[in-house]
Amino acid sequence: MSFLWGVATSSYQIEGAAENDWTEWERQERLKVREERCGRGAGHRERWRTDFSLIPTIGANAYRFSVERSAIEPAPGFFSDEALRLERERVDALVRLGIEPVVTLHHYTHPRWFWSGEGWGSPESVAAFRRYAAVVADALGDRVRIWVTLNEPIVFLLGGYLGGLIPPGHRKFAAAARALENLLRAHAEAAAVLKERIPGCRVGIAHNMLDFAPERRDSALDRRLARAGDRLYNLALLEAMGTGRMDWAFPGEGRTRIVVPDFAKTNDFVGVNYYSRVHIRFRGVPGAVGVFAYRDPESRGLTDTGWEVHPEGFGRVLRQAEAVGRPILVTENGIATRNDGLRRDFLREHALVLAHRLEAGAPIEGYFYWSLLDNFEWLEGFRPRFGLFEVDYATFARRRRPSADVFADLGRRFRRGEAADGSFAAARK
Ligand code: FCB
Repeated sequence: MSFLWGVATSSYQIEGAAENDWTEWERQERLKVREERCGRGAGHRERWRTDFSLIPTIGANAYRFSVERSAIEPAPGFFSDEALRLERERVDALVRLGIEPVVTLHHYTHPRWFWSGEGWGSPESVAAFRRYAAVVADALGDRVRIWVTLNEPIVFLLGGYLGGLIPPGHRKFAAAARALENLLRAHAEAAAVLKERIPGCRVGIAHNMLDFAPERRDSALDRRLARAGDRLYNLALLEAMGTGRMDWAFPGEGRTRIVVPDFAKTNDFVGVNYYSRVHIRFRGVPGAVGVFAYRDPESRGLTDTGWEVHPEGFGRVLRQAEAVGRPILVTENGIATRNDGLRRDFLREHALVLAHRLEAGAPIEGYFYWSLLDNFEWLEGFRPRFGLFEVDYATFARRRRPSADVFADLGRRFRRGEAADGSFAAARK
């Protein structure tokens, strides 16, 4: 397979209109950080065919998207033929366009029924996820070779089980630890089912990674907290991918040790989602998590989500992922900005880091920019603009941004196996 040069989306963020836990939270106004509702997202449900036709025009040969479980499994164990047929049509359309489909099974949202019991706290969630994976595999498996079971499980746990910010809104380490174990098992079981039904398919997890820095470089306490953050957020899951054992310690909250023997052999690749760096400062409470902040030490200007642009961190997290010893897919990397010039710089600088890692021999097999289109950002609504295509939310019209040309140009080089300076093909031979 040639280098995958793609764009990524998730169902809820571009098509909304689901009966899931996020719509329920929006209805109940539990998402305290915003009032906006997702509604029909970027209107993709009605426009998916024309949206797909945009993908080859930006030089992409791959597309990562998610299937919405609340549509596919509207009641426990009841699967909608109509929803499955729609996903099949989509996959067929992508394949006809010469686009490699990469399917995510779980991208933050859940059917509402999922929370009528204990959710991820119960081992039943594992069996149910396995059953769901089997049904989707049977529907799409003759066309889809690359699968992401879970998107950003650590972010989901921090936001949904520790921070109380997103569904299910818990704030207890013990609950998070139980959910973590069931999520790892759910991945392992779903992966086993996918591999059994789709010989040769490849399965992984999209892991959000941040670069961690001590706010005050001369503070041993800040440095120690930055290391703890790195371990809890980045390294613990990577180690589990390599060994099947996870040691997850949250300063001041608790620690859990989990063994899922099949976990290691069910990660064919490491999916890396990278956006930014955080700076950590000790806040005077021993044993507790520090204060996290995005900073702008190089005065580049923060992105519209308030994140630092830090391409060097991309290299650092890639090296951490390389240590697992599996192929890597950069399953997300992107910037929210209305200044498209910043997006062009962002793309070039991150592509350069990617090229350097490839020259160094890293087994990176693909890169997915987040996102094809402007879309609904989980905590911030429609304001952040991540798209290579701009969306006019009054009319749902799409307009190509100039950065799409940069993306296409970089894609040509990566797909031909040459870096920005033309050197990477030689280094790869
Ligand atoms: C990632 C999420 C994705 C999107 C981007 C901006 O953490 O996986 O859905 O919201 O951030």
